[in-house]
Amino acid sequence: MRADSVILNTWYVAGFSGEFPKDKLQGQTIAEKPLVMWRTMAGQVVAFDGRCAHKRMPLKDGKLLADGTVECAYHGFCYADTGECVRIPSQLEGAIPARARLKSYPVIEQDGLVWLWPGHADRIGTARPPRSPEISSSEWESIGSQPIPVRANYRLLIENLLDVTHFYPLHDGNVGDVSHSRIPIEVVLDGDGSVKTVRQAQFYRQPPFFRQWFGYEVVDRHHTHCMMSPAMTRVEMRAAPPGQLGTGAERGFVLYHTHTPIDRTRHIWRWYMNGRTGHHSATDPSKPLVVTMTENFDEVVAQDLWALEKQQEMYDFPDDGYKEVHVRADRAMLAVRKIFAAMIAEEHSPTGAGPVNARVRASRAGISPAL
Ligand code: FES
Ligand SMILES: [Fe+2]
Repeated sequence: MRADSVILNTWYVAGFSGEFPKDKLQGQTIAEKPLVMWRTMAGQVVAFDGRCAHKRMPLKDGKLLADGTVECAYHGFCYADTGECVRIPSQLEGAIPARARLKSYPVIEQDGLVWLWPGHADRIGTARPPRSPEISSSEWESIGSQPIPVRANYRLLIENLLDVTHFYPLHDGNVGDVSHSRIPIEVVLDGDGSVKTVRQAQFYRQPPFFRQWFGYEVVDRHHTHCMMSPAMTRVEMRAAPPGQLGTGAERGFVLYHTHTPIDRTRHIWRWYMNGRTGHHSATDPSKPLVVTMTENFDEVVAQDLWALEKQQEMYDFPDDGYKEVHVRADRAMLAVRKIFAAMIAEEHSPTGAGPVNARVRASRAGISPAL
């Protein structure tokens, strides 16, 4: 399956809440839609087609005026936070054409994230973005990344996150080693459109970063990666000295990755690291654990980024008889590809009126837990 598709009818992360201060206009492209977004004076994030209704000037290059309207930089059409044009400087006394309004996009802000639906609003139905409660909980300390531009289709990042056998050799010496990539993988498909891998290990000798973070040489470990939707993957790590998982000695993290397509070959990657409040770094007890994990994590991300972009370069050649060979560890990746194929087929189906239940979608895709 080529890595050149984008699902439209789903919620994607447009940014962390902190990326939307009240005084800032933002231009973004999500799933090939040019957008202008801002936080209104009432505190709500709004999103519209980013092209001025007059002559397509990008509104992100305009100005947010003191009265809360957005002024286009070209001829000064002004838009209210409903998307309606409310002023045309060259004909202040004349009528404003009824079509002078911007198409709006649905936005939901929850758990510290701003989500946007770039597809058909009538397909939303009961679909809601996945939750990430740790980000706004006082029981967790959370640090988010900058938006990371990646020259690769976003599905390749999801495949990377669910494929932990790449920890050797790609992450050898920081979060991985060869014994790490040999831990058996259980794939869980709940029929809700999520794909989860579970890897449990006893008496496992931790790679260097985990020793520095948690302070244990040998642990029992529970590690999961879950594609919650095409937009977000949740990683959970729990580690403790043998026999002590679930006790006060347990250390770990919850890590959210968000993958937002710009277009078919580019996406924005964000990650949000969450560590338990009160847990400190083993190597520097003056630092919260989440700070140390975050400082080290850039190195891991740079390695993945390098691999994703190299992989995309190869996708850009014609297949010309080439066919991937898959192994046992690729079951989760194949499940992701089936879900993508089914969601894209559904978008192109002329009978696809209304939202399709994810369970139906998964069964249409022929996914079974017996993969
Ligand atoms: S293009 Fe925006 S006002 Fe003319
Ligand atoms: Fe990786």
